[in-house]
Amino acid sequence: SMLSVNVWNEDSSSKNLIPRLQKVKNNYLSMNKYNVTYKGQRNTAKLSPEKLLCQLRDRVNVTMIHGSDGPFNTSEWQMYLPRKKLSQEVGHFRQCAVVSSAGSLKSSHLGPEIDSHDAVLRFNGAPTVGFQNDVGEKTTVRLVNSQLVTVEEQKFLTDTLYNTGILIVWDPAPYHAEIHEWYRKPDYSFFVNYKAYRTRHPEQPFYILNPKMQWQLWDILQENSLEEIQPNPPSSGMLGIVIMMTLCDEVNVYEFLPSKRQTDICHYYQRYHDRACTMGAYHPLLFEKNLVKHINQGQNELIYTHGKVTLPGFRNMHC
Ligand code: C5P
Repeated sequence: SMLSVNVWNEDSSSKNLIPRLQKVKNNYLSMNKYNVTYKGQRNTAKLSPEKLLCQLRDRVNVTMIHGSDGPFNTSEWQMYLPRKKLSQEVGHFRQCAVVSSAGSLKSSHLGPEIDSHDAVLRFNGAPTVGFQNDVGEKTTVRLVNSQLVTVEEQKFLTDTLYNTGILIVWDPAPYHAEIHEWYRKPDYSFFVNYKAYRTRHPEQPFYILNPKMQWQLWDILQENSLEEIQPNPPSSGMLGIVIMMTLCDEVNVYEFLPSKRQTDICHYYQRYHDRACTMGAYHPLLFEKNLVKHINQGQNELIYTHGKVTLPGFRNMHC
């Protein structure tokens, strides 16, 4: 098309952030909570989108904790962990939608388009009831962070919002740590509520994401950025995108790259304003968005109008 539209610049740098968010990023760099010791390369020349997609497919190991994984290979854990592997549980999907929780989904009227997918992934406490016109009503998978599962006020154990679809919980781990090390000291003590939820809802599939994925993905984000990125795990949004690329032939992501409706309203379901939600503070969200823009196979107009990005599933890639 001849139309040139103003969409996410894939060369965005932290210099373009407001000073507050630059400071926050620098603080996380000096804190280095997860003991990141990155010794990998720095790609000054950009990889082609095809090469980058192959790197994601071949280096990010998307797996869920299984009862055969130490230290979960105890008789107690066998009572809680799902028997079936995620791929056995869901098979594979043709077209999938990943719905970010961004405020820019407000008044988007994307609901029917989102629901037309074979599977829909949502995040954390993102509701559908009352927001169907903008975000749809189908929930096939819900990816939640361990803070939400752990912290009492979040009502994870009692809010019926969580009773639909397949649940996956993830928790930040030390940089490239062994599962055992992470298990002894998870970022949030979510195992107690995981077990409690499994006891209350034994029929609902509920997986724990193997934490090795987060740093394999982070290494690729760092390798393909021109500056040091936050030494913290990728956002739920980025993790969810890669999870769906393993399950689906095609993944449409909504409002991860902001549309013309871009706003500082953090979530479509709350009134809270914070630019960090879209640009990143704790998570290396800016660099996640640069990477997703680079591998997008859809048109820029669709980013502008729908906040929509189209990515191929890993099974359909030839590397
Ligand atoms: O805030 P929460 O983590 O629940 O949102 C889910 C994901 O949606 C985030 O991890 C982030 O990747 C994405 N998001 C965004 N812009 C926003 C809010 C969320 O890109 N304003």
